[in-house]
Amino acid sequence: MKKILITGISGFIGHYLHKYRPNDVLLTGTYFLNKPEINGVDLVKLDLTKIDEFINKSAKFDIIIHCAAEANLGECEKHPDEAIVLNTQATEKLAQWSAIQKSKFIFLSTDIVFEGVKGDYSENETPDPINVYGKTKLEAEERIINIHDNAVIVRLALCLGKGLGNTISFIDWFENKLENNNEIPLYFDEIRTPVSTIFAASAIWDFVSNDFIGIVHLTGKEKINRYDLGLKILDHLKSDKKFLLKKKSSQNAVYPRPKDVSMNSNVLDKVLNTTREDLSTFIKNIL
Ligand SMILES: NC(=O)c1ccc[n+]([C@@H]2O[C@H](COP(=O)([O-])OP(=O)(O)OC[C@H]3O[C@@H](n4cnc5c(N)ncnc54)[C@H](OP(=O)(O)O)[C@@H]3O)[C@@H](O)[C@H]2O)c1
Repeated sequence: MKKILITGISGFIGHYLHKYRPNDVLLTGTYFLNKPEINGVDLVKLDLTKIDEFINKSAKFDIIIHCAAEANLGECEKHPDEAIVLNTQATEKLAQWSAIQKSKFIFLSTDIVFEGVKGDYSENETPDPINVYGKTKLEAEERIINIHDNAVIVRLALCLGKGLGNTISFIDWFENKLENNNEIPLYFDEIRTPVSTIFAASAIWDFVSNDFIGIVHLTGKEKINRYDLGLKILDHLKSDKKFLLKKKSSQNAVYPRPKDVSMNSNVLDKVLNTTREDLSTFIKNIL
């Protein structure tokens, strides 16, 4: 059985990786502030700012899936030095350790590494992030590529799914607003390529077992702005659209927000040979 470490198993994506894990793995998962209530995994507390301590006392792994990060864009912007420590420096140290023990390293990066001007980005285009979060993730990618020859950098698009455990997702936020008859402000001028979190988790597991090395974009099939995404969700719920508020993205932005970070997944389609669900189908499945 393969010994696998998932950092940040207590997070949104970590919970999905746990839920959709294959049977033949021995799983260790890390949490920081929120110990998850999940079975079939050895849980370890990890503080990314003290990654050296963790590395020094940890067993070796065949594969490391590195999810843990400061993934809140506002927090990264407010505390850039901390964001570099968590997202870039800790990632580099983990990747270095992984390279020494010859384990495969799978890093979850983001569409926010792109500037967001042209959209439809492919893996061979040069990213140019405009906010702290994007910069720390891109710097981590570059450091991994320099030190690890068996690494997969998965640039994830916006993942859609209900939060598992005590995690709260965009879909939960949306449904909560709706249930309480609150306005749902959504940007009409920010474009993403949302992907189902179930599909994303299963694709990440595929990269655990296949031979692919390098950067891959993991997206849904269609690009869409957040406001139109809201309309689609309401269509499926057969709900009134009067609470949906069309918002321009520069209003009250606490960090620079890229406009169009849509990515294409041509590499993913070739490597995995799977058919990605269209947006309407997976929205129906997750609601
Ligand atoms: N969700 C998306 O749509 C999306 C899209 C693109 C890329 N990504 C990337 O995917 C990865 C996972 O995202 P997510 O949505 O699951 O994020 P999340 O829900 O915010 O989870 C973040 C995880 O990191 C852990 N963590 C935070 N600070 C830590 C610290 N100082 N030391 C150790 N662990 C710490 C958290 O632990 P506790 O909760 O226990 O404190 C949690 O397990 C991230 O690298 C993110 O950049 C996500």
